[in-house]
Amino acid sequence: MLLGPSRRVRRVDAATVDRAARRLAAEGVAHLVTPALHLADARPFLAAGFAPREELHLLRRSLRIETPEPDHPTRPGRRWHRELALGIDATAFDGFWRFDRTNLDEACRATPHHRFRLIGSDGPVGYAVTGRAGNRGYLQRLAVDPVAQGNGFGRALVADALTWLRRRGADEVMVNTQERNTRALGLYRSMGFVDEPHGLLVLERRLA
Ligand SMILES: CC(C)(COP(=O)(O)OP(=O)(O)OC[C@H]1O[C@@H](n2cnc3c(N)ncnc32)[C@H](O)[C@@H]1OP(=O)(O)O)[C@@H](O)C(=O)NCCC(=O)NCCS
Repeated sequence: MLLGPSRRVRRVDAATVDRAARRLAAEGVAHLVTPALHLADARPFLAAGFAPREELHLLRRSLRIETPEPDHPTRPGRRWHRELALGIDATAFDGFWRFDRTNLDEACRATPHHRFRLIGSDGPVGYAVTGRAGNRGYLQRLAVDPVAQGNGFGRALVADALTWLRRRGADEVMVNTQERNTRALGLYRSMGFVDEPHGLLVLERRLA
């Protein structure tokens, strides 16, 4: 089960996290995982017995520099395309990182505005969700079916996201990815993203 700080509370303390974990354990939950947290937000979870599960690289790109044009067309993803996107997601990500319907809906709802795009010449083989809150953009999700990888679809989805964000007045965009995801890191860095000094942590605590 996912347990994270509430958006309504500025900071939680370790005792509050521990109480929530114990309550969930009493309800039969065996394993807790946090969303990706900055170190400051991770501290109370670490103090409450959570341990690092994954370290994520955080990258930032200015939208004031030139944005490449997508060299494959993308098309709008509609609500009814979300199941199809989840099918692509399941081929692109392994178990822990794979999105279910709730994760995808949350990624779309995480910011006041979002863009959901599909790509592929004979039917969709990739998709991206990009969010925008004020002048900041977020690459929320990007996946290309392994059978179609290496053809420029990932690059075109990112270029589409950057173009959309720029048109809507965003001036920077953030993305995070697993430390060992050389492919995604290579893609982002080659498109002008720069590593942030500190990454994000996904934590877990086993209750049973
Ligand atoms: C990351 C991902 C979206 C890239 O999609 P793709 O369609 O294969 O990407 P492209 O063909 O556009 O290649 C884009 C760039 O990736 C980089 N890249 C590709 N393979 C690479 C490799 N083995 N090592 C390092 N960089 C690599 C290159 O910079 C490449 O650009 P170039 O071929 O023009 O030099 C795809 O690999 C994927 O879905 N991976 C699993 C899910 C995932 O990791 N999503 C992103 C997590 S945030």
